[in-house]
Amino acid sequence: MTLIDRAIVKTLPAVPRPVVRRLSSHYIAGESLSEAVATVKHVNAQGKLATIDVLGEEIATAAEAKAIAGEYVDVLDAIERERLEANISVKLTGFGLKLGYQVCKRNLERVVASAAGRGIFVRIDMEDSTTTDDTLRLYRELRAAGNDVGVVLQASLKRTLGDVPGLHDVRVCKGIYVEPPELQFKNPDVVRDSFVAVAEALLDDGAYVAIATHDEAVIERSLVLLERSGRREDEYEFQMLLGVPESIGDELVRAGHRLRIYVPYGRQWYEYSLRRLQENPKIARYVAADTLRRFVPGR
Ligand code: FDA
Repeated sequence: MTLIDRAIVKTLPAVPRPVVRRLSSHYIAGESLSEAVATVKHVNAQGKLATIDVLGEEIATAAEAKAIAGEYVDVLDAIERERLEANISVKLTGFGLKLGYQVCKRNLERVVASAAGRGIFVRIDMEDSTTTDDTLRLYRELRAAGNDVGVVLQASLKRTLGDVPGLHDVRVCKGIYVEPPELQFKNPDVVRDSFVAVAEALLDDGAYVAIATHDEAVIERSLVLLERSGRREDEYEFQMLLGVPESIGDELVRAGHRLRIYVPYGRQWYEYSLRRLQENPKIARYVAADTLRRFVPGR
C-alpha cells in the first residue's frame, strides 16, 4: 500500500455510511438470507464451496445475540433445503461473548446442535486478541463433547505456533485485527513465514487445514507443503473472501483443489465492510472515484 492509500485507510471511519456501503457492496451477499442463498448457488455453480457468515458482531444485548443464533438456524435450514454445498462460520461476539462466556456458549451450543442434526460443519472465526483464549476454550469444550466444529488461527499473532498442538480442524489466516506490537508481527514477510510455519505444524499434527489467503506467495508455499505432506485433495482446502478478485481461486479450482468462499450477509454490515475496505490495495482509487461521482453530477 502506498502512503496515500494508508492515509485514506486511516480516515475511512469518517466516510459516510452510505458510501462505505456502496464501496463495499461486492464483499457482502446482501442483507437477507435469500440473497446469501442466491450467492452461494452462484459460487457452487463455479465448482466452489461456501461458508455462510451472518454479520452480527455489533450486537449489544443478550436478546440480539439470541436473535443472531436464531438466524443461523434459519441459515442451516436453507443449506439443507436448498442442498447448498456450504457450512457456516460464526463470530463469538455475535453470540454474546462480550456479555458473558455462558451467554455465548448457550447460543453456540444451540447452533452447533442444529448443525449436527443436519451433518453441517461449524467454523468458529477468530476475532481480536482479547477473545483468543475464550474462543480456543469454547472450541475445545465443544470438540470434547463430540461436535464437528473447527476454529481459526491468526499467523500474525506471536502466540499462534504454540496454540497448534491438539487442534483438529483449523483455518489459517494472517489475522485482520490490529494488535499491540508485543502480541503481533508487523513485518509482512515475517507474517508470511509465520503463516507457512503454522500451516506446516498443523499438517504435521494431523489437523484438517484450511488455507485462507489471497496472497499468491503464501498460496505457492502452501501448495509445496501440501504436496510434500502427501495429503489427498479432500484432506485440506483453500478459502477466500467473497468479492476479492478471483483469478487465483479459479486457477486452484481448475487444478483440482477445493476452494471455499466466505459469504457474509446481514444488516450489520458496517464493521465487516470497513475491515475489507481497509485491506483493499486499490482503496484510494475507489474512494477518489466515488467522491468524484458524488460531486460531479453525471459521472
Ligand atoms: P494480503 O492482505 O496481503 O492480500 C493479498 C492480496 O489479496 C492483496 O494484495 C490484494 O490483491 C488481495 N486482497 C486482499 N484483501 C483484499 C480486499 N479486501 N479487497 C481487494 N483485494 C484484496 N481474519 C481474522 O482475523 N479472523 C478470521 O476468522 C478470518 N477469517 C477469514 C476467512 C477467510 C476465508 C479469509 C480469506 C480471510 C479471513 N480472515 C480472517 C482475514 C485474513 O486474516 C486477512 O486479513 C485477509 O485474508 C487478507 O490477507 P491475505 O492473506 O489475503 O493477504
